[in-house]
Amino acid sequence: MPQQLLTILNNSDQVVKNHGQDVVRGLTNTLKSLPPKYFYDDRGSELFEQICELPEYYLTRTETSILKQYADEITQITGSCELVELGSGSSSKTQLLLDAYQKIDGSFKYLPTDVSGGILETSVLQLQEKYPGFSIEGIIGTYEETLVQLESTPAPSRTICFLGSSAGNFTPSEFDCFLNQVAKALVPRNYFLLGIDLQKPKEILEPAYNDSKGVTAAFNLNILSHLNWRFKGNFDLNLFTHQAIYNQARTQIEMYLYCQGNVTVSLDTLDLKVSFDAGESIQTGISRKFDLAVIQTKLEEKGLRTKKIWTDSQQWFGLILCQADF
Ligand code: AVJ
Repeated sequence: MPQQLLTILNNSDQVVKNHGQDVVRGLTNTLKSLPPKYFYDDRGSELFEQICELPEYYLTRTETSILKQYADEITQITGSCELVELGSGSSSKTQLLLDAYQKIDGSFKYLPTDVSGGILETSVLQLQEKYPGFSIEGIIGTYEETLVQLESTPAPSRTICFLGSSAGNFTPSEFDCFLNQVAKALVPRNYFLLGIDLQKPKEILEPAYNDSKGVTAAFNLNILSHLNWRFKGNFDLNLFTHQAIYNQARTQIEMYLYCQGNVTVSLDTLDLKVSFDAGESIQTGISRKFDLAVIQTKLEEKGLRTKKIWTDSQQWFGLILCQADF
């Protein structure tokens, strides 16, 4: 019997009703902003895959090199389990872990989850074919929707993984809430594997988010096309330009779209009209750069005790494996 491919979590009445209220909040703030999850429609996920291949975007290849070297060690610590991945995208890095889980005994289940249904469907189909011995099922939903849903699904041993430094997209208080949700979805002795980008000079960081081919610019602008189709909007993409800057005081990259003229934009489904002055910006995302000791303390506060940390030779990226101890 063929395995189930996907579960869709984001179509309850409540979700549909509240849908887009985060956009309304962000665009009516004095300093306009948008939640970064709106980057990831199918086109956005495709563009992000291209970002991962860029020479300036060191994150993906650095994390991949760590996984290549230590996947066996990681899987030996966690043992066979239910692996839940938040924001799995194409799952390409995760395959290094899947290959390692294939070498150990016990039943293994992989639950990739993403807001972008297109990329998830493609990758789950490929993975089910490549790993016929595993149970693999995709979940379409936000982090929160997924984590709440998991709580009610007990599993003998669960590992939640969150790679690619997507944790950097959260503000410190959002990260705090997120960790509470992660902790709730784990029982004692379960694992949490977190990939994070570490602090480094501005000269390396800024080009990683302002690449010479303009892929990041296209990715950033695509958030407006996404709003146009999802909420019947009329953003003119030609009026906006991409820029990413490194905020040294907050050790974070900040992504902006600058508006080049005075314009009013409507988003019909949301009953929203937003006026922009020439030179005004929308902050479309942040990407925090972490200090290993600080983040370890934060995890510890939530009962997530560090088991082991792996980094690359330049200490550019870190993988932290923690175990629930509460
Ligand atoms: C997928 C959230 C980790 O912040 O580095 C890449 C997204 N944005 N280039 C990041 C992103 C612009 C990426 N994350």
